[in-house]
Amino acid sequence: MKKVLSALILILVITATIIWFNLPKITPYYMQLTKPRVGLNLDLQPKEQRSASFTGSQKCQKCHKENYHDWKNSMHSKMIKEIKNDPDAVIADFTTLPKDADFTLAEVVYTVGSKFKQHYMIPATIDGKKDFRLGNYQWNTQNNKWQHFYPYQDWYRDAYPHNNKTFPTSNTCDGCHFTGYMSTRKRVEPAIACESCHGPGSEHVKDPDSPVFKASLFDPIRTNEVCLQCHMRNRDKRMETHNASAKDIWMTAKDYPAGYEPGKALINYKLPAPFALGKETNEFWANGAAKKNRTQGNEYIHDRMYQHGITCINCHDPHKLTNTAKKPQGNDACMKCHSFSSIIGPHQNTLEQHTHHKSDSKGSLCIECHMPKTGKHTEQSPLTVRSHRFAFTYPAQTKAYGMPAETNACYACHKDRTLDSLQEDLQEWGKLEWEKLEIPLDFLKIDLNKTHEVLFDFN
Ligand code: HEC
Ligand code: HEC
Ligand code: HEC
Ligand code: HEC
Ligand code: HEC
Ligand code: HEC
Ligand code: HEC
Ligand code: HEC
Repeated sequence: MKKVLSALILILVITATIIWFNLPKITPYYMQLTKPRVGLNLDLQPKEQRSASFTGSQKCQKCHKENYHDWKNSMHSKMIKEIKNDPDAVIADFTTLPKDADFTLAEVVYTVGSKFKQHYMIPATIDGKKDFRLGNYQWNTQNNKWQHFYPYQDWYRDAYPHNNKTFPTSNTCDGCHFTGYMSTRKRVEPAIACESCHGPGSEHVKDPDSPVFKASLFDPIRTNEVCLQCHMRNRDKRMETHNASAKDIWMTAKDYPAGYEPGKALINYKLPAPFALGKETNEFWANGAAKKNRTQGNEYIHDRMYQHGITCINCHDPHKLTNTAKKPQGNDACMKCHSFSSIIGPHQNTLEQHTHHKSDSKGSLCIECHMPKTGKHTEQSPLTVRSHRFAFTYPAQTKAYGMPAETNACYACHKDRTLDSLQEDLQEWGKLEWEKLEIPLDFLKIDLNKTHEVLFDFN
């Protein structure tokens, strides 16, 4: 009897193992992919949180040591530094600051950024109000040089004076770089801390049973919103409702979704930067790929992975910010869901058959072909911003959309070749999708200011 039972159990275990290893890798995400949509207008912020205030990450550290540690080591905690508390914050060489600079190091209170570039915040009274302004030079870490910085040249150029001394950071930067500023207009804590993503925590700190917002509890589209509040280029929301132009919002134009708190319906606060396929703008190439930084959201909402329920946090741990896979540069990050000859692709049987490069070649790294560097952090920087469009851009598409050859994945590694000849390689390899596609010229007629509805609320 015992023997029969053991045999049965053994058979069961073997069958289960066989089934498990033959399930598509995407199976663990099935629940997420099939979660019912809750709608874009539903306010998901817990009721208890509506009367709460922002209290700062120090309070959270006590009970959430690990999350705190991960976050503290991530770039989110380092975005804004107060020089007084952190003299190492300054990465620039101030001895070479050009003579026509409108600021000195002694005047600077906060540094902004460190990885690609650094800006400097200086206290200023603007329009009779205490505020901050930005120095007219920025430090570029890619060439270790000072270069001019004129923030009023962005889309809101008609809303602010063309002078760094009277250009306030309050409306144009601080909502995304200081915790709490977006909804309270108070710089509760420098940089992107816990409450930027979990909402105000005063009630939860008093009583842990009183909930804070956790983005992954809801459908994937709404999960992403907590990242999209910052990682997406905007226009002032008022430009939508009153058909206003930047001129009509003189000195008040906001470059972030003012009033938003995690869980609230982002669509009520955010007007994404307009884009229509086939039309190049200051921020995007004609195929939708990024020309500038902080465009991850604008790009990703065009992608099939987004539309089918894959979220930012499927690839990025929200506290560590690394890709959740062990080797961020390698293929693990993608292969935890993808597998060869699977339904979701790649459809070929092996890596080499898919990429037509040797398996240990750089030309077999998923992100090199599917996330090429298309954008820059400053005019004078090299291409450093990786595209979050994921769909492969053919050399012929790069050409037809009028994009620089360098933004094409194949060309980026084969600069001795032409786009045409690289396209021929792909044709030889049997990758012919592009022949079926054409730039839909009808799109060019779409009113740029109305396209955000299409972008946000697809089905
Ligand atoms: C006094 C200890 C304590 C403090 C302080 C505290 N928490 Fe918590 N937190 C808890 C406990 C306990 C839980 C688990 C509660 C539960 O599962 O119902 C929790 C759960 C959470 C969750 C998960 C919620 C969910 O729905 O799964 C988040 C997010 C969170 N806390 C964030 C924060 C943030 C942000 C702060 C600082 C503003 C903070 N916590 C401060 C004790 C604390
Ligand atoms: C960039 C946004 C972001 C920041 C900043 C952030 N969190 Fe989270 N946090 C999330 C998201 C998203 C989840 C859900 C993760 C999941 O379910 O996989 C989460 C989950 C949690 C949880 C639930 C347990 C877990 O690990 O999944 C706790 C507790 C928590 N966060 C605490 C904190 C604390 C404390 C801080 C600050 C030290 C913080 N978070 C900063 C986005 C953030
Ligand atoms: C309040 C604004 C804000 C929110 C919310 C936010 N981010 Fe960020 N994020 C930033 C800023 C600013 C930086 C640049 C930090 C720096 O360079 O110091 C950044 C950097 C990053 C980086 C690059 C890290 C590195 O090491 O270079 C990743 C990845 C990232 N964020 C992912 C996320 C994800 C995923 C979410 C949502 C769970 C999220 N962010 C939410 C503002 C935000
Ligand atoms: C809508 C939110 C938002 C606004 C508004 C915003 N930023 Fe950022 N900023 C981000 C995010 C997100 C990143 C990181 C992601 C990226 O660069 O692709 C970032 C990155 C940066 C970096 C590079 C950080 C590094 O480590 O190299 C600097 C510098 C910066 N921002 C300065 C500014 C200044 C100055 C303003 C105002 C004129 C501003 N930002 C307005 C969200 C914002
Ligand atoms: C399918 C996986 C995947 C998804 C989904 C994804 N990312 Fe990424 N992301 C990556 C990879 C891979 C990198 C490049 C990492 C590297 O260079 O080591 C990256 C890089 C970044 C960076 C660093 C800046 C840069 O240009 O390299 C930021 C910021 C970022 N992602 C934010 C986001 C946000 C916000 C979302 C959601 C809108 C998102 N990502 C969705 C995989 C993903
Ligand atoms: C969390 C799971 C998950 C991860 C991680 C993931 N993918 Fe995907 N991916 C999917 C799913 C599901 C689809 C299928 C969408 C469809 O066709 O319905 C898909 C589709 C795609 C497609 C074809 C559709 C499109 O968007 O153009 C490409 C290309 C792609 N993924 C590339 C990548 C790359 C590159 C990475 C790593 C940086 C990656 N994926 C990581 C789940 C994932
Ligand atoms: C040398 C460039 C290159 C590399 C590297 C590459 N791909 Fe692709 N990938 C392509 C091209 C080209 C297509 C378009 C196929 C078509 O249109 O017929 C594609 C299509 C896809 C698709 C859509 C489904 C399909 O098979 O057509 C997925 C999913 C995908 N790739 C995932 C990946 C993953 C995961 C990796 C890393 C293991 C990867 N790719 C590496 C060039 C590349
Ligand atoms: C990240 C860099 C990288 C990318 C992206 C890349 N390649 Fe390559 N490619 C290489 C390297 C390195 C070799 C050398 C041989 C090898 O490793 O397979 C190579 C070899 C080749 C060869 C063999 C002949 C030769 O020049 O040695 C062809 C053809 C080729 N690539 C075409 C393409 C096409 C078409 C694309 C776009 C779909 C592409 N490559 C994308 C790096 C890249």
